[in-house]
Amino acid sequence: MRIAGQDYRSIWIDDATGDLRIIDQTELPHRFEIRTLADVSSAAEAIRTMRVRGAPLIGATAAHGMALALARDASDESLSCVREELIATRPTAINLRWAIDRVTEVVSGIPVGERAEAARNEAIEICDEDVACCEAIGNHGLAILEGLAESKAGGPIQILTHCNAGWLATVDWGTALAPIYKAHAAGLGLHIWVDETRPRNQGSRLTAFELREQGIPHTVIVDNAGGHLMQRGLVDAVFVGSDRTTASGDVCNKIGTYLKALSADANDVPFYVALPLSSIDWSIENGLEDIPIEERSPSEVRELTGLDDAGQVARVSLFPEASGAANPAFDVTPARYVTGLLTEYGLCGADRESLTKLRFKQTHQHSIRNPSQRRLHPRPEDSNV
Ligand code: MRU
Repeated sequence: MRIAGQDYRSIWIDDATGDLRIIDQTELPHRFEIRTLADVSSAAEAIRTMRVRGAPLIGATAAHGMALALARDASDESLSCVREELIATRPTAINLRWAIDRVTEVVSGIPVGERAEAARNEAIEICDEDVACCEAIGNHGLAILEGLAESKAGGPIQILTHCNAGWLATVDWGTALAPIYKAHAAGLGLHIWVDETRPRNQGSRLTAFELREQGIPHTVIVDNAGGHLMQRGLVDAVFVGSDRTTASGDVCNKIGTYLKALSADANDVPFYVALPLSSIDWSIENGLEDIPIEERSPSEVRELTGLDDAGQVARVSLFPEASGAANPAFDVTPARYVTGLLTEYGLCGADRESLTKLRFKQTHQHSIRNPSQRRLHPRPEDSNV
């Protein structure tokens, strides 16, 4: 995707120096800073402090972090320490463990001297695959947006999105925003309602930044406005991402997603969740019982960062410490509220049977292809999955 007319990925290896680079997302949108991750500790710190965030990007960064560690010490002891250090950074997004397991599997069976290069190649492969998966999600989602456009008498398609599931949350393209980028490129009229997404404001800081850079009309709203807009027919569909989806279709995403799903259900607004298969945890069924919900620092609720009158980045306190603050970072949307899961293989039902078929398809390496059918407000039964 483009920033100031230049193409970027959210993580990359510098061609000239071989260094691992990231865009520091804690500084956006006020400052655009590129940082170097020199070792596994800086990779872990970047994930923990959310310089990089979003489920697929966390996984990609962890894979590169393993490669950096194994370049220094590729012994079995080092491998096991590095796994622990990285897995401890953030508990909810399953992509983290998925990527770490994938690199571990590649390096475990080979001589110690070959491990660093193999890990680096696998990390690069994970990044390239993520780009391809997200672009495929975009192509499948484009068909949904084209259907919505056909059903409207006129005016732009109005999409509501929560948090940031754009290219900054992945390696490129994004999940929930990929269809929007594809639709914009195809000339569809769009307007995006961007939930600010308290407390970290990934919507107002990151999603709005992405949409601005791509020239896509959007409006930032407070997190509580979505229900009101849906009641008045101002939202044609909701598109969100997922940090972990269970084998039965429950979706865990940024705190506040569940409330949007309830409102969408009450107002007959389709609610799509876009995700690569690397975000599915096949080992669990019940999202409410089985997904660990990250509890972050109360200071994120108590304090806000922004530009002051002098144009300097400043942090302010919103209320005294004498009041407690709680900060659960994710919630679970039960499968029954999900219209469809938009994956790299197409639209899939948020239910065990459809997901089992999807897994079979993935295991048997069917190629990614576009949906063959289109219908207004497509539902998974329309899908080729
Ligand atoms: O806490 P974050 O910013 O890492 O949470 C990110 C989200 O909740 C995204 O919606 C999710 O990772 C989907 S990523 C394409």
